[in-house]
Order: sequence, then structure tokens, then C-alpha cells
Amino acid sequence: RGVPVVQVPTTLLGMFDSAIGGKTGVDTRAGKNLVGAFHHPRLVLIDPELIDTLPRIQRIAGLAEAIKTAAGLDADLLEWLEQHAERLVDGETEAVEWAVARVVSHKAAIVSADPREDSRRAILNFGHTVGHALELLGGYEILHGEAVAAGMRVEARLGEDLGVTEPGTADRLGGVLDACGLDRRLERDRSAQQLWKALARDKKARGGEIRCVLLRRIGEVARDPGDEYTFELPDASGREWLEAALAATGDEEPV
Ligand code: GLY
Repeated sequence: RGVPVVQVPTTLLGMFDSAIGGKTGVDTRAGKNLVGAFHHPRLVLIDPELIDTLPRIQRIAGLAEAIKTAAGLDADLLEWLEQHAERLVDGETEAVEWAVARVVSHKAAIVSADPREDSRRAILNFGHTVGHALELLGGYEILHGEAVAAGMRVEARLGEDLGVTEPGTADRLGGVLDACGLDRRLERDRSAQQLWKALARDKKARGGEIRCVLLRRIGEVARDPGDEYTFELPDASGREWLEAALAATGDEEPV
């Protein structure tokens, strides 16, 4: 914690998200990011040309965090991602540079205002409740971005089923994830029962409730009745909601 650090992210996911904001958690068998500290870097140096060295799956997984930022904060960015998905998947430097600058400006503003995630920073966890459960079930062998993509599909569907998220949001989000090559293998391969068990384990490890960020619509997250940025998924009904959301995600027509 006492060592000054300069982050030089070499993955697209690092450039979009994890190099900024000082989260230094590591995964343990008990769950994701359970051991760590908030320790902000002195400097973040991003060179988008570094992504030329990345395998395609790494580029694609990184795009999930850009889509997450757009889904929760920036409808114009989501529209841009829809239009430029192919250029990003191909790693075209100019497109990547533009997207990184836009996503980083959101992330920097949020973490400067709420460095320890007391409130608004939670927006950046959209897709992560279910995403972390999928990572736990996959023994951390799947990429974080792949898990977040799957988590966003399920959580968007969940929001619609709960009447919190504007209808049509999950389909639109699913379309841009498809366009970026993020497939539906992960959530299709898991039952609601498996997922619920993993969520419950994460909850126990963190000593809290199962909470989840839900969208109001593309570009805006919803607030729960207590004005929190996350919604509690109660034990009694949460599993059934999850079951319905998984079934609906699996039924989507490929774009
Ligand atoms: N990856 C989410 C955050 O840094 O808060």
C-alpha cells in the first residue's frame, strides 16, 4: 500500500477499466477480489498500439467493459459502439484510441468523486454480480470481460422482468455484445441453481446481501427505493427471477 505505482495496461480491459481507480484485489477460492486494497496509481500510461499484440479473444473481452460503461452512463457511446464494433474487434488503432479516451473520461470522473465505492462508483459494477458468479463457477479460467458480458445480458433481462428496466434494453445490449463477438456460451451453460449457489457463496464471503446494478434504460442506471445504486435480490424470489432471465437470454435470436 505504501509503494507509489504507475499503471501501464497492456490489455484492452486494463485500458478501459482496471488500470484506473486503484482497485488492487486478488481472487481467492472464496470469491472474486476478496483480498486487496484501494491504492490509486500516480500515473496511468495507456498506449493503444499495445493491443496489436493481443489475441482476438482478449480484445473482445476488453470491449465488454466499454459496453458496460456505455450501458450505465452514456447512450451516445453505446450508439457509437454499435456502429464501430467491427473496427474495435479488428483492433483498429484510431477507433480503439477514441473509445479508450471516452471510457476513461467516465471512469476517471466517477472514481475521483467516489474513490472507495461508497455510492456512485457502484454503477461500474453493472454485469458484475452475475459475472463474478460465472467466474467463480468457471474456476477463474474464463476471462473477466467474457463473464461481465454474460452478466450484463442476464442482469438486463432481470431488470426488465422486475419492471425496473425499460423493455427492449436487454435486446439492444445483446445486439452490441453479439456484434463485438461476445457469445452466449457462458450463461447458456449454467443453470439458475448453479448460479444462485455461486451468488450465495459470494454473498457469504462478503458478509452481505446479493445486490445487483440494474439499468433504467441504456445510458442510465436505476436507483432502488432507498436511492441506492444497487438492488437487493431477496433469497425467496431471486432464484426464480434468475431462472426466468436465463431462459429469456437463451431464447434470444442471434443477430
Ligand atoms: N471495475 C469497476 C471499478 O473499478 O469500480
